[in-house]
Order: sequence, then structure tokens, then C-alpha cells
Amino acid sequence: MEMTPYQLANKTPLTLSPNFILPEDKRPNLSKIINHGVPKELCQKVLAVVTEFFQLPPEERAQYLTKDHSKQVKVFNYYQKYDGIGKVTMWSETFSHPWHPTEDFTHLLPTNPPQYREVFAEYARAIGVLFDRLLSLISRGLGLDKDCLKRRIGEKPGLNTQANYYPACPDPELTMGMPDHNDLGSIAVLLQVEGVTGLQVIKDGKWLTVDPVPDAFVINLADQTQVLSNGKFKSVGHRAITNKLLPRLSLGMFYTPNNDTVIGPIEDLIDEENPPKYRKYSFKEYMEEFYKQEGKRRRVKEAFELQR
Ligand code: OGA
Ligand code: NI
Repeated sequence: MEMTPYQLANKTPLTLSPNFILPEDKRPNLSKIINHGVPKELCQKVLAVVTEFFQLPPEERAQYLTKDHSKQVKVFNYYQKYDGIGKVTMWSETFSHPWHPTEDFTHLLPTNPPQYREVFAEYARAIGVLFDRLLSLISRGLGLDKDCLKRRIGEKPGLNTQANYYPACPDPELTMGMPDHNDLGSIAVLLQVEGVTGLQVIKDGKWLTVDPVPDAFVINLADQTQVLSNGKFKSVGHRAITNKLLPRLSLGMFYTPNNDTVIGPIEDLIDEENPPKYRKYSFKEYMEEFYKQEGKRRRVKEAFELQR
């Protein structure tokens, strides 16, 4: 974007001319904190194809509408149910499908935009590597061996992606893009378009806006990480608000246990001072509790807490 330079009071235009540029070793080094290893161009490419998908005519996106939870590739809308009012639909549309193993579902993905399948497969490969790194870093952070978390989340994890499109909204005070929730699985890697805010996390009862950092991911720890770590890591409560002027796109990649996996606090983290905070359950039970709370502000993990 072309910008008219700001004129300082002393008439100098504020431009990146030599007298404003710091010596190399004095620069803030903003990109140094971004070390995820996923190429920037790839992130931009995947956001571009997903944006194109949401810009297709509604009749074309409609082929993915379904009421069946178990459908692998689907378009749906979030909503909340309120007593005495009924259903309120969120200001967004979501497109969701698996991201691995590619051979199982690629034939179900869009052929329009034409690059969708190819770009997505490339992005999924890179995020797979990032998940492995995150899982071992979190394990090590808990003082466990690096494979521990991945092993406990188990064989054949559910690997799903969710693209959320939030059109500009004439009055963001009246709507919500995505309701207050915690992610269900273990970790979520969220990529968002630059320059539009929307994501908020709750801390000490207050909503804080998470400004998109160019080329960075937001890593959300989700419910199963909280349970496995016996509460040492917290699953973050979050939501998305709408934006008055600009549409926003976010792309979440999720890593979730399969239904048969038994989840509970990792034994090495339990001792007399740290008794287990959660009971053991199969992930299937967790999902049943999740569906039971449909339309509400879901408190799924609370249902598995042990009383003391
Ligand atoms: C999600 C989510 C938030 C966002 O997909 O689970 O929380 O910023 N998305 O769109
Ligand atoms: Ni979420």
C-alpha cells in the first residue's frame, strides 16, 4: 500500500532513508522470535486459496453443507442457544476437513480454486513437522521424555483443519464471529490473515485481543493437554469477534486423540503433593459430553474433574 509519509514538525518526511535506518546489530530483530520453520510464502499461499474458496458463489460452497457430524469435509455455521431466545447464528462460515493422511480424503477436497488440493497438501506436510516439534517441546517442558505427549495422544490421531471466514460486520457490538470456547484436542496451530484483529483470549476474567503478528502462528493449548499435564498447562478460553471494515480469515490445524485413546493425567506428574485433578476417560466419552452441551457455553473438561 502506498502511504504518504508523515511530515515531522521540522519538515522532514518520515521515510526509510539512511538517517532513519539503524545499524544492523541495533535493529529490533522482530523476525527472530518467529522460528517455526514454515515458509512464509507457503502460509500466504494457503491463506490465499482458502480466501478464494470463501469467495466462490454460495451455490458452489453449498455442496459441502451437511448436518452429519461425521462427514469429513463440511461447511457449517456456529451458533449459540439461549434460554427463552433460541438459536443465534454466529457471523462467520467455517469449512472443515482432515489434513492427514492425505490419501484418505484428498479426492473430497475442492477442485475450485484449482490449486486448493496441492497447496493444502504442502501446508499440511509443513504443519505436521511443526506439530512434532511442539509435542516434544511441551513434553520436555513438563520434564518428560520428548516422545511422551505424542505417545499418550496415541496412534492415529484425528488431524483436522478448520478455516473460519468472518465477513465484515456493520455492527460488531451486536454479533460474535465464534463463541467463547476451548479447543477440544491437544494443540491447535492457528494462522490468521495480517492486519485484521478478531481473536480474543480470556485472562483473569478479561478478554484480551490477540493482534495478528505477521508470519507467526498462534499456538493454542487445548483441553487434552491440560488433562495430560494435570493442569500444569492450561487450555485457553477464546472467541472471535467481528470487524467492522474488513473480512477476516483464520486457519486452524488441530491434533486430537482418536476415540479409543484413554486420556488422564500422566503418571510421572502425579505424587502426594500433586494428586490427579482429572479422572481417566476415553476420548469417545469426552466427545459424548461435548455433544451433550451443544449450543451452550461448553464446560466439557469440568465434567471429568475429580473432587477433593
Ligand atoms: C477455532 C478458533 C479463532 C479464530 O477455529 O477453534 O478458535 O481466530 N478460531 O478464528
Ligand atoms: Ni478455537
